[in-house]
Amino acid sequence: MTKKHFVVGSLIAFVGLIAACGGDESSGNSDGSSTAPAATATTVPATPSNEEVIALGEKEFGACASCHGADGTGVTGLGKNLVGSEFMTSISDSDLATLIKTGRPTSDPANTTGIDMPPKGGNPALNDEKIDGLVAYIRSIQ
Ligand code: HEC
Repeated sequence: MTKKHFVVGSLIAFVGLIAACGGDESSGNSDGSSTAPAATATTVPATPSNEEVIALGEKEFGACASCHGADGTGVTGLGKNLVGSEFMTSISDSDLATLIKTGRPTSDPANTTGIDMPPKGGNPALNDEKIDGLVAYIRSIQ
């Protein structure tokens, strides 16, 4: 009588069970306080333009920086802050491009400082491509 021992390999199966406990989404329960006088537009996202367009704009912004500051926050008595103002976040990209193109002279009723914003910032070499770059760059620093 021979006894044979059979070794039974046992398979150990790891069953990974990922229990995704659903994140507790806070219900958008806004308290109806409306303190903002103007209709609040939905947040205008910084336009995700490609890096090259922004880089081109950043380069061109050098000419604007003399009045608007290297970081765009403005220079007192020269150019306005271009970062984060209500105006800058509410204006559309195409209106911003037009504004850069045409400037805003003191004769324009929209002028707020009594100082000229020259057409194209005084740089006639600014073409549409560069202005698009400027728009993208300005968006990127909002
Ligand atoms: C010679 C100075 C000067 C230069 C150079 C200049 N700006 Fe201006 N810019 C101004 C002034 C001054 C204003 C504010 C006009 C006003 O009173 O409404 C202004 C306003 C603006 C505004 C509107 C901001 C707002 O909140 O109303 C934008 C956008 C702008 N400039 C972009 C540019 C860009 C882009 C360039 C470069 C291509 C540039 N500027 C070059 C002087 C300048």
